[in-house]
Amino acid sequence: MSNDFDKLLKMRALARLGGGQERIDKQHAKGRMTARERVEMLLDEGSFEEFDMFKTHRCTQFGMQGKDFLGDGVITGYGTINGRVVYVFSQDFTVFGGSLSETFAEKVCKIMDLAMKNGAPVIGLNDSGGARIQEGIESLAGYTDIFLRNVMSSGVIPQISAIFGPCAGGAVYSPALTDFSIMVKNNSYMFLTGPKVVKSVTHEDVTVEELGGATVHATKSGVIHYAAESGADAIEYIKKLLSYMPQNNMESPPVIECDDPPDRRDEFLNQIIPDNPNVSYDMKEVIRRTVDHGDFLEVQGEFAPNMVIGFARYDGYPVGIVANQPEYLAGVLDIDSSVKGARFVRFCDCFNIPVVTLVDVPGFLPGTVQEYGGVIRNGAKMLYAFAEATIPKVTVITRKAYGGAYCVMSSKHLRGDLNYAWPTAEIAVMGATGAVEVLYGREAKKADDPQAYLDQKEQEYAEAVVNPFVAAKRGYIDDIIEPARTRFRIIKALQLLKNKRDTNPMKKHGNIPL
Ligand code: HXC
Repeated sequence: MSNDFDKLLKMRALARLGGGQERIDKQHAKGRMTARERVEMLLDEGSFEEFDMFKTHRCTQFGMQGKDFLGDGVITGYGTINGRVVYVFSQDFTVFGGSLSETFAEKVCKIMDLAMKNGAPVIGLNDSGGARIQEGIESLAGYTDIFLRNVMSSGVIPQISAIFGPCAGGAVYSPALTDFSIMVKNNSYMFLTGPKVVKSVTHEDVTVEELGGATVHATKSGVIHYAAESGADAIEYIKKLLSYMPQNNMESPPVIECDDPPDRRDEFLNQIIPDNPNVSYDMKEVIRRTVDHGDFLEVQGEFAPNMVIGFARYDGYPVGIVANQPEYLAGVLDIDSSVKGARFVRFCDCFNIPVVTLVDVPGFLPGTVQEYGGVIRNGAKMLYAFAEATIPKVTVITRKAYGGAYCVMSSKHLRGDLNYAWPTAEIAVMGATGAVEVLYGREAKKADDPQAYLDQKEQEYAEAVVNPFVAAKRGYIDDIIEPARTRFRIIKALQLLKNKRDTNPMKKHGNIPL
């Protein structure tokens, strides 16, 4: 018995070494943690239960016979984060470069299946050279088995990916299919084809970092949701994200004790809107001043900053926040901001997280770049997402809500549940300046002083139309509220909507304009 036990301990120790100390040292020299260190940092101490630690590949070609490493390049299992169960796979670069073999994929699929059966999130920690070159088609099959599970799990359990090293070729699609992806700055990259292939096909000279570094994907492509400063920072962000999510789509998000008074007033909000409508202010300041303890976890903060999305809590209840940012492009809606907002609203809707929408939007961005890029198709995504969402939806219009952008931003007409406006709100088809030019431009030319005539008309139009009372009279907004009391009114609204039940017509699925 003791011999058997000794053997087990030895095998475990061997498995824990992955590809061996030399390769572990190389990994550390690159400023990267090992796969196992990442799992340990992610999970509550001592909570990790590993599966398939002794599994090895079955490849017999290209010198692979007898060249085994226990675990075959991926560590899989489950554990807890702040006491809540999660399933994890962590790719081990020290074993065949973390490349994916048939058995590697079987291990990942096993925990993905268990996570689905038991309704718990899956977290994938990526650091891999892609398909195991010695195997070929088996690893392609393995990737696709994982993709299928990513899709089947979508909207049922939260899925989060972090990329700590290479992630190239078809391997990128698993992170892309998950709800949130995180990369580490200057130490990870993600692309379909590397710089050499790019050079041969398009003749572009591009470095790994320029092609698929964390900064590129956080700011330009929008592929990832957070560019972490380090591996530890990436892991911390995963934990924070999870704290706002339920375990699965059948549960409510976790509520925590809150000692920030629900009726806390914030007098600064009564003066945050500048007198001049063309002057900006920071919508994130509005968010921080209304949510619990000013804690706002921004998501995709560096991509399309004209739209702000992220998680916060009101009186301990998690919410998703969607807001226009007047500080960037005047908060205009465009292709990127619409796609960003729409996907976030759909995530919240999948997982029963109410959405609070803060509106200050002058409209959709005009121009050929946007029209050729399909702003119609992409803007429609935002509209679609809000319309189909059945979660509680609370909207506050702080200033501008013009034209189609008014309709899109969780308006009453898209089943917004409680829609409020600040007294500074401007809700109209278009701004007064543009409106009088259309309506009175010809007459102005005949006037003694055309500009004075237009100014007069503009003032009349603004007083008659550009204010919140016209919408309030129609019931399109439920109340005009004092900005200082916004926190209290949002919390009351969320309490009222706590047991909200709403449905969509029976269908296989809708056809969102992708
Ligand atoms: C098998 C691999 C491997 C792979 C790396 N290794 N990638 N083994 N299959 N795909 C092994 C190396 O042989 C080496 O083994 C160890 O991992 C570390 O690799 P290095 O090259 O020494 O590391 P580094 O210099 O950091 O370079 C990392 C790398 C490079 C850029 C990822 O290894 C590389 O270019 N690998 C190949 C990438 C690739 O073309 N993958 C296939 C993509 S196609 P030793 O024994 O020396 O430690 C694909 C299709 C998927 O993925 C489609 C899904 C639908």
